[in-house]
Amino acid sequence: MSSVIGTGMHRKSWSWFIGNQFSFGPEAIRQLAGVVHRQSAKRVLLISDKQLVEVGIVGQVAAVLEDTEAECIIFDGGEVEPSTDTVNAVVASAREFQPDLFVAVGGGSNMDLGKAAVAAYGHDCDPESLFGFDLVPGPMPTLVCIPTTAGTGSEVTHAAIIKSSSTGKKAGILSQHIRPAIALVDPTLTLSCSSQVTAECGIDALTHATEAYLVKNFYAFEDDHQHGLPYEGNHPLGDMYAEKAISLIGKHLKQACAKPDILTSRSAMAFAASLAGAAFASCGVSVAHALEYPIGSKYKCSHGAGNGIVLPALLKFWCQSRQARIAKMAALLGVPDADKMDEAEAAQAAIGWIAETRKLIELPTCLRDVGGAESDLDELAEVTVSLQRLIDLSPVPIAAPEAKLILQDAL
Ligand SMILES: [Fe+2]
Repeated sequence: MSSVIGTGMHRKSWSWFIGNQFSFGPEAIRQLAGVVHRQSAKRVLLISDKQLVEVGIVGQVAAVLEDTEAECIIFDGGEVEPSTDTVNAVVASAREFQPDLFVAVGGGSNMDLGKAAVAAYGHDCDPESLFGFDLVPGPMPTLVCIPTTAGTGSEVTHAAIIKSSSTGKKAGILSQHIRPAIALVDPTLTLSCSSQVTAECGIDALTHATEAYLVKNFYAFEDDHQHGLPYEGNHPLGDMYAEKAISLIGKHLKQACAKPDILTSRSAMAFAASLAGAAFASCGVSVAHALEYPIGSKYKCSHGAGNGIVLPALLKFWCQSRQARIAKMAALLGVPDADKMDEAEAAQAAIGWIAETRKLIELPTCLRDVGGAESDLDELAEVTVSLQRLIDLSPVPIAAPEAKLILQDAL
């Protein structure tokens, strides 16, 4: 048997990982009946939270299941930033009920909870043993994800962020085995999202698409066919998804926040979030997410708000190697007369569009808005650059001094 571990050779090929079914559009949740039929499912465990039960969204999904032969129970203990204790609570419900199909309904938190719980249940293991890359031992039972926000893209990604109940720290489970087999994206479910949630999730989706578009190219990475990589680096199919996502967000984010009940904008944002999720799940996210991690945990701001604070400053820093691509974003975002600008002007215009939009949709515009101070920056920079998996994808080499410069710009 031959081995190719650590050849020192650069990659010549790239990959695109996808689930089995992606259904999109108003009433896409009705496709769940077909899923139950095809899977010959008899017992469905629906994973969600009390708020989504109260607003009737869980009821809408349960009503689809009522038209099937399957028995359904609801776990409504989902929470923002799900913990390993909550994952274990889902696993305990599953052990008792013995489901043959799992359905997670909600934003990124509930979908991540579903991914972690189904993997831990399927492999009868402690969820903490799954933290890291490629540590899920094998395929897991079928999970359907139904997003109710337009942002995380968790319905199509191989990542789940879970908080350890023993350390209080968030960690990622990254494995191709936890990607939901089926994503049913029904934009009508996002109609009840507040303007603030729409803005935070929308900027998160824009950050996913932007980072996937600008990270290092796939051929910059060393070959390791046996293990694969958590993220592949930028590649042509990722570009197609990222560019479409950026242009949909450019056209629809402001309207989705200003007039939350217009389905056209909601549909565009829901589609953009899934496209951006698929793009970053293959190509990667990088420094914006690495900067957001300590910001979110220190100042308790939302993931999207934290990404929005750092994105323009990061793009200025990345202009030294990605100016042409950032310039292309100006036209994608709908900056007027972008095609008449030279490259440097267009790149600045794209960055300006993001900064201006962030303000218009009433997100924090700087670190001070969430309680940041100059004296915090060294600590934030140190944590940022310790997130090696994300930092490795940066198209410009970055250590603590550069991270601090970006944070100063975002202050
Ligand atoms: Fe994100």
